[in-house]
Amino acid sequence: MATVKFYGNETVPLEMHKVRIVQKLNLPPVERRLEKMTEAGNNTFLLKNDDIFLDMLTDSGVNAMSDRQQAAMMVADDSYAGSATYSRLEHQLRDIFGMHYFLPTHQGRACEHILAKVFVSPGKAVPMNYHFTTTKAHITLQGGVVEELVSDAGLEVVSVNPFKGNMDIGKLRATIEKYGPEGIAFVRMESGTNLIGGQPFSLQNLADVSNVCKENGIPLVLDASLLADNLYFNKTREEHCKSLSIREITRRTADLCDVIYFSARKLGCARGGGICIRDQALFEKMRPLVPLYEGFLTYGGMSVREMEALAVGLEETMDEEMINQGPQFIAYMVDQLQERGVPVITPAGGLGCHVDAGRFIDHIPQAQYPAGALAAALYIASGIRGMERGTLSEQREPDGREIFANMELVRLAMPRRVFTLSQVKYAVDRLAWLYDNRKLIGGLQFIEEPEVLRFFYGRLKPVSDWQNKLVAKFREDFGDSL
Ligand code: F0G
Repeated sequence: MATVKFYGNETVPLEMHKVRIVQKLNLPPVERRLEKMTEAGNNTFLLKNDDIFLDMLTDSGVNAMSDRQQAAMMVADDSYAGSATYSRLEHQLRDIFGMHYFLPTHQGRACEHILAKVFVSPGKAVPMNYHFTTTKAHITLQGGVVEELVSDAGLEVVSVNPFKGNMDIGKLRATIEKYGPEGIAFVRMESGTNLIGGQPFSLQNLADVSNVCKENGIPLVLDASLLADNLYFNKTREEHCKSLSIREITRRTADLCDVIYFSARKLGCARGGGICIRDQALFEKMRPLVPLYEGFLTYGGMSVREMEALAVGLEETMDEEMINQGPQFIAYMVDQLQERGVPVITPAGGLGCHVDAGRFIDHIPQAQYPAGALAAALYIASGIRGMERGTLSEQREPDGREIFANMELVRLAMPRRVFTLSQVKYAVDRLAWLYDNRKLIGGLQFIEEPEVLRFFYGRLKPVSDWQNKLVAKFREDFGDSL
């Protein structure tokens, strides 16, 4: 991709693959989109895929597979125990991470469940660069405390810092001091830090974290779900990694950790997950929970077809030309939006493009869920589904007060190798139109608010008839266009 220069000096992310299977998409007219958004209670999780043009909700389990992954699925060895497919997967993981032991699970959060059950007890702390929703839920369910130690730069929306996912080493030392090494269950580093905009950590930072863990005898756990993006950023943004291959950076990353777990819905472009472990004693502590919660030790809840696809997907993750498509498409989208003045998280990260609803619609108070309102407005204006990542995704205090999020974001995920550049241009165009008409966007209020995980099931309505006005303006500006 990056190595191909265009005669016209344009920066274009050129795909190093071709598309041989396609799925027809549907773009309903704007009036119908308004109807569908209303039926879904202004919650993009409740939309039906048939009514969506570009689904940018997530990259989880929806990345495009390669021809080699599809082919591998055909030769899967189906057996409850001891399948050859499992051995191939285990071998692949040993080869890339250099850790001897592996426990398969049905997806990433299942790994978090097992790790939390084995290592976390009431009052114990888990310092991390930043939490992911399911990670935090499993740790707190066991009575543990999440200590968020991301560097201050991590929470700056606009920045040129290449490694906003770095952990602050001073804060890590202070946290170990506070709890004592025996009060820390493990230290967790998340690659391609999801909730702060897919931001990476540097290999140097991981080495510094690892040194502190070793000094104090604390295990270091890596969440490698978004490792592919992190590896790409290590290679392209970190001077001492430029001469290393992706495989070498992977091994150096793994060598610094005691445990690596991942969601294979992201890493390896398949479905499933697993935990790689260096030490036999740690492995033996976790092993009994796999047959109990997941499935027998040679499938852990995954189908053999998925395991075959994962083994190949992991191998392909070692190829820079296979993993650079996501970050380069995201950077293109972020650049184009910035050129049109649309506020986005910078620098561009992995996972997707994150629109800053806080600045986009600064006339909407946080109590009226600006990021939720923008996600609803974007679907109405374009048929594109994004995900609210702001106050709506928080949970109220026990006394009913709102917890206002640090950032009000709409995440537009970029499933790898799924969308074309013209589709990305369409997303940019509709966002630019919305930005020019941002004063028409109003807030939302709940009509049904579940107590737990309200962002999944909650239903909302607009605080005024702003959505009808938005549709009328769309017709005025776009005529009979879809
Ligand atoms: N860790 C990270 C960093 C994740 O992004 C996810 C999932 C998980 C763990 C949990 O894995 O879904 O396989 O159980 N992220 C998805 C997303 C849900 O949309 O970003 P899982």
